[in-house]
Amino acid sequence: SSVSIAIIGAGISGLSAAQALQEAGLPVHLFDKSRGSGGRMASKRTEAGRLDLGAAYFTARDRRFAAAVRDWQARGWASEWRPSLYELRQGQLGPSQDEQERYVGTPSMSAITRGLLGETPVTFGCRITEIFRGTRHWTLQDADGQSYGPFSQVVVAIPATQACNLLTAAPVLAGKAANVAMEPTWSVALGFSTPLETGMDGCFVRNGALDWFSRDRSKPGRDNPLDTWVMHATSQWSREHLDASKETVIEHLHGAFAELLDCPLPEPAFSIAHRWLYARPAQPHQWGSLADVDMGIHACGDWCLSGRVEGAWLSGREAARRIIEHLDK
Ligand code: FAD
Ligand code: NAI
Repeated sequence: SSVSIAIIGAGISGLSAAQALQEAGLPVHLFDKSRGSGGRMASKRTEAGRLDLGAAYFTARDRRFAAAVRDWQARGWASEWRPSLYELRQGQLGPSQDEQERYVGTPSMSAITRGLLGETPVTFGCRITEIFRGTRHWTLQDADGQSYGPFSQVVVAIPATQACNLLTAAPVLAGKAANVAMEPTWSVALGFSTPLETGMDGCFVRNGALDWFSRDRSKPGRDNPLDTWVMHATSQWSREHLDASKETVIEHLHGAFAELLDCPLPEPAFSIAHRWLYARPAQPHQWGSLADVDMGIHACGDWCLSGRVEGAWLSGREAARRIIEHLDK
C-alpha cells in the first residue's frame, strides 16, 4: 500500500531502518524532536566548529555493518581514524597500541546520518508523545497536540527510557523497554589557541571522573582553528553529578584532564558541556529489535543490542527485516 511507515527517531537506528525499508520500496516518514538528524551520533555546531560531543568513533565487527561502513567511506561520509592511543594503567598514562580499526564521520560525525537521511521525508522539532492504533492504521500525536497519520506501521527508534512511554499499545514491548536502565554521560570540550604538546590523540582513562578523551584535530577532515579536546565522564561520575551546573562540570573535567596530561595546560579559549541523560544502556541485550508484528509496532535502538553505533545500526536493520518479512507473507 502507499500508506507510509512512521519512524520515530532520526538517529542511526531509525535511519538504518528507513534505508532498508526504502530499499524494499516501502515509503517511510521520520520524526525527530531535535532540529536535525543523528541523535547521539550527531555533532554540535559550536564557535569552535562542529564537535562530536556524542559518539567519538565506532568500530565494525559485524560483516553487514562493515559493508555499510565501506559504502559510507566510498561516499566520503566516513573515514578510518588512526589515533595514537594512550591508556591509564596503574596511575600512569602510557601508549596503548592495538589492531582495532576505528571510524569517524567526515568532516564531522553528523555527515553519516545527514547522508543517510538524504531526501527522506522527515519532520524535525516534533516530539511524539503518543501512538494510537485505529481499526487499521496508526496515528501519532506530538507534544503540541498535533496529529500525524495514517501510518501502516510504526518503528520506535529512541532510547529505552523514552521508548517505554510510546509503547503503551504494546505492553510486552513497553515492559521490556522499562527494564533497560540507560546511564548518563557528561561530555565536555575544551579548545586551546596553542596546540597542546602531547603525542596523544585519544586516551582510555576509565577512572574517577574521566572515561575517555580525544583530540578533535587528529580525526580526518577536521579543520577547526582551535586544538579542541573532547572528554567523556564515566557513567558513575555523570550519575553523581547529574544536576551539577555546566560550569561546575567543565571545571571538574578540566581539572581531571590537567592532572593526567604530560604537558602544561594553558587556559582554554573555548569550553562547552553537554549532558546526555540516556547515553548508554547499563547492559547489552541480544534482542535484535522488539516487535508485535501483527499489530505493526516495532522498537529498535542501541539498547536492543550492544549499546554502540554498530548495535544501533544492526537493530534498525532487524526492525526493517521483520516488517518486510511480515508483509511478504
Ligand atoms: P539515538 O541516537 O539516541 O537516536 C534517537 C533519536 O530520537 C534522537 O535523534 C532523538 O532526538 C529522537 N527522539 C527521542 N525521543 C523522541 C520523541 N519522543 N519524539 C521524536 N523524536 C525523539 N558508540 C560507539 O559505537 N562508539 C563510541 O565511541 C560512542 N561514544 C559515545 C559517547 C557518548 C557521550 C554517547 C552519548 C554515546 C556514545 N556512543 C558510542 C553510543 C552511540 O552514540 C549510540 O549507541 C547510537 O548513536 C544510538 O543510536 P540510536 O539511533 O539507537 O539512538
Ligand atoms: P573499542 O574496541 O575501541 O573499545 C572498547 C573498549 O576496549 C574501550 O572502552 C576500552 O575499555 C578498551 N580498549 C580498546 N582499545 C584499547 C586500547 N588501545 N587501550 C586500552 N583499552 C582499550 O571500541 P568499541 O568496542 O566500538 O566501543 C566503543 C567505545 O564507545 C567504548 O570505549 C565505549 O566505552 C564508548 N561508548 C561510550 C558511551 C557513552 O555514553 N559514554 C556509549 C557507548 C559507547
